[in-house]
Amino acid sequence: MIKIAPSILSADYAALGQAVDLLRPWGADWVHLDVMDGAFVPNITFGAPMTKALRKHTDLVFDAHLMVNEPAKWVQDFKNAGADIVTIHIEADRHAHRTLQLIRSLGMKAGVALNPQTPPSAIEYLLESCDLVLVMTVNPGFGGQKFIREAAEKIKVIRKMLDERGLRDVEIEVDGGVNAETAKLCAGYGATVLVAGNAVYSSPDPAKMIETLKNTK
Ligand code: DX5
Ligand code: ZN
Repeated sequence: MIKIAPSILSADYAALGQAVDLLRPWGADWVHLDVMDGAFVPNITFGAPMTKALRKHTDLVFDAHLMVNEPAKWVQDFKNAGADIVTIHIEADRHAHRTLQLIRSLGMKAGVALNPQTPPSAIEYLLESCDLVLVMTVNPGFGGQKFIREAAEKIKVIRKMLDERGLRDVEIEVDGGVNAETAKLCAGYGATVLVAGNAVYSSPDPAKMIETLKNTK
């Protein structure tokens, strides 16, 4: 079954603790934490201190998406803050292989993210070093954007690359513009985790939305 990782980027910033409290009763699997530095992406959100504060609100998996330059500088802080998964952008790190090793050495799962224009070939030699590939289907920086269909094509290609290497346990997470309709495409291409910010937090019935996304065929 597909796992759902709601992004708190679309939650009420004045009440993020409560926004996280709601996720387990709503049936979420992970909490997607969109960390932005205002340099790698044109927006600033929050960092490890906020992550640490939210950690005591839930035991759900903390899925930290680092949209930051030189992510290696922050890995230890996110370990200390209680992150379970740390995903770096291949476009933001000249030594991504080393950073993925660092994340794993600290006992966390390591993810690598691809912006819409970045080809799967960019991570071909990292697949054995990661536990998750994050396919961006929007240009990172904001929630509530339109799903970029051509970027979703990469899900199929990455699934094939992983299968050819026998890497069946590596998650393919899709992030950006996911809703009941686009989720079908992602699931059909082989995605195993869906991030959903706007679709969940703006829904009149978030629990129902999560259930719908989870049962996408
Ligand atoms: C964008 C973030 C996404 C975004 C998803 O930079 O990485 O996680 O919050 O939000 P929706 O689901 O609203 O597109
Ligand atoms: Zn994200």
